[in-house]
Amino acid sequence: MIIDLRSDTVTKPTKGMLEAMWSAQVGDDVFGEDPTVNALEQKLADMFGMEAGLFCPSGTMTNQIAIKLHTGPQKEVICHKYSHIYLYEAGGIMANAHASVKLLEGVYGKITAQDVADNISADDVHACETTLVSLENTMNKGGGSIYTLDEVKPIKTLCEKHGIKLHLDGARLFNALVASGESAKDWGAQFDTISICLSKGLGCPIGSVLLGSKADIKRARKIRKSFGGGMRQAGYLAAAAIYALDHHVDRLAEDHDRAKAMGLMLEKHPLVSEVFPVVTNIVIARLQDISPEVFLSKLADKGIKSVKFGKDQVRFVTHLDFNDEMLELFGERVKEI
Ligand SMILES: Cc1ncc(COP(=O)(O)O)c(C=O)c1O
Repeated sequence: MIIDLRSDTVTKPTKGMLEAMWSAQVGDDVFGEDPTVNALEQKLADMFGMEAGLFCPSGTMTNQIAIKLHTGPQKEVICHKYSHIYLYEAGGIMANAHASVKLLEGVYGKITAQDVADNISADDVHACETTLVSLENTMNKGGGSIYTLDEVKPIKTLCEKHGIKLHLDGARLFNALVASGESAKDWGAQFDTISICLSKGLGCPIGSVLLGSKADIKRARKIRKSFGGGMRQAGYLAAAAIYALDHHVDRLAEDHDRAKAMGLMLEKHPLVSEVFPVVTNIVIARLQDISPEVFLSKLADKGIKSVKFGKDQVRFVTHLDFNDEMLELFGERVKEI
């Protein structure tokens, strides 16, 4: 049996999800006429107490639209140096928004209000004015670490004081909410825009939603069109997302439990020097006496797929298609390396 732990994006739609997709009511969404897309956008906006939503093909697109909304040439976004928007979106900050980026250090991929305060660039002739701060929750490169509301609120207050917008890359925000027990509405109240992915822990084949004010989402719709992201009968995909929101949120706790168990197994391994604290569904292990490449090929020989995540690190991600039987097999096979 192949156990694929490269990402939570590797899942296939469940039977229930496929049935929901099959029976979706659809229309042309570029004309705003797809009832299922409209229902999904409204459902997520209501959940987070935000005004409007925009369904997009990917989390990269929702993040990039938000960055373009809130920055521009000679403007700057502040984010952690390990942020997805900086590391893994193909230079989109520069290519799409023509903006600059200021990268901050921080433990497990997180930044504090003090870090932000110390790094705001004023509207000075020499500087790129800071117009956006972007946080990531859960933090992928931080090992699925999470922010608490108490950490975010002072950042929000600071941004408001300086007229800076606050964006959340919430690709795995539901993982964070399930782990912390905090409410979606409380999180919605902190941000100008939030990107939420349906194609990760929630198990959809495709899709992300950008949440924000009516005015921002109206502009975002036009930016999406210019990115080539206007979709037609996208309701088949939105139906999967609605199904996932109704059926796949609470079960994320199972993924977290399995990830914690994996973390404990890896901690005991002689080739592992450190496992990042496991809070959600991501497990990052630092290796010793072996390179990630050799470790990964030994894992692959045993039918386990994982990815390199830094010069001496590998990452495992639990998901909807990973069960207790696979967890047990994972433990047995890893021990044999
Ligand atoms: C934290 C984070 N943000 C954004 C994205 C982008 O999502 P997509 O792959 O849908 O473009 C990812 C993808 O893995 C991610 O992990």
